[in-house]
Amino acid sequence: MNNHSDNGAKVYTPLTLKLYDWWVLNISNQFAWKCPTEQYLLPHFLKNLGHKHLDIGVGTGYYLTHAPSDCKISLMDLNTASLNAASARAREPQIIHKINHDVFEPYPVHLNNHFDSISMFYLLHCLPGTMPDKDIVIENAKMALTNGGVLYGATILGEGIKHNSFSAKLMHIYNRKGIFSNRQDSKEELERILSNHFHKVDITVKGAVALFSASKNIII
Ligand SMILES: C[S@@+](CC[C@H](N)C(=O)[O-])C[C@H]1O[C@@H](n2cnc3c(N)ncnc32)[C@H](O)[C@@H]1O
Repeated sequence: MNNHSDNGAKVYTPLTLKLYDWWVLNISNQFAWKCPTEQYLLPHFLKNLGHKHLDIGVGTGYYLTHAPSDCKISLMDLNTASLNAASARAREPQIIHKINHDVFEPYPVHLNNHFDSISMFYLLHCLPGTMPDKDIVIENAKMALTNGGVLYGATILGEGIKHNSFSAKLMHIYNRKGIFSNRQDSKEELERILSNHFHKVDITVKGAVALFSASKNIII
């Protein structure tokens, strides 16, 4: 772990996780980020979900509770409170690996070429640094995908979109506290770090949220 890589993880305690679905998935997604969970984020999660799946930055595990029962799911998070909350909520027999790991670090080698799909929902905007600093996070995840695998997710942007007064207030507070680090994150910057590692990149912006998917690894 580098000096700051846990900045976006330490706010998730058993208490804040109890409030997370209500505050983030319900109130903030609808009224601040203007990307309602059930209308946009959940369908994006399910559309790209493969049979052998890794969810990174698991939070409360909300999306995983909607996965089909034959899906083999693994969880990765730097925070054990999140890992515990998500695994308790998802169907336990579906959970294959529960990995306490910092996404800035290379994954354990047994995960190389392992997953059909990897999701990162609301992870990138929590990670410290600028979008180019997060390139390594995409590279590490790429290594764990099978050749036809897809990396996908959603992240809140800071630039190139219009914030309302509620979202501008949240952006200010979260960035000041280090819960977010996304003031300069734009669709173009996201596209750049994904295209550095994948041939096929697709990004749709809904409200303040970029919904992305990337596939066909660039072989390096
Ligand atoms: C905003 S929550 C996202 C929860 C869920 N994916 C969602 O969209 O509702 C961010 C998650 O990323 C995890 N996280 C933050 N920094 C991390 C890091 N460096 N490595 C791994 N996980 C990290 C946090 O612990 C937290 O569980």
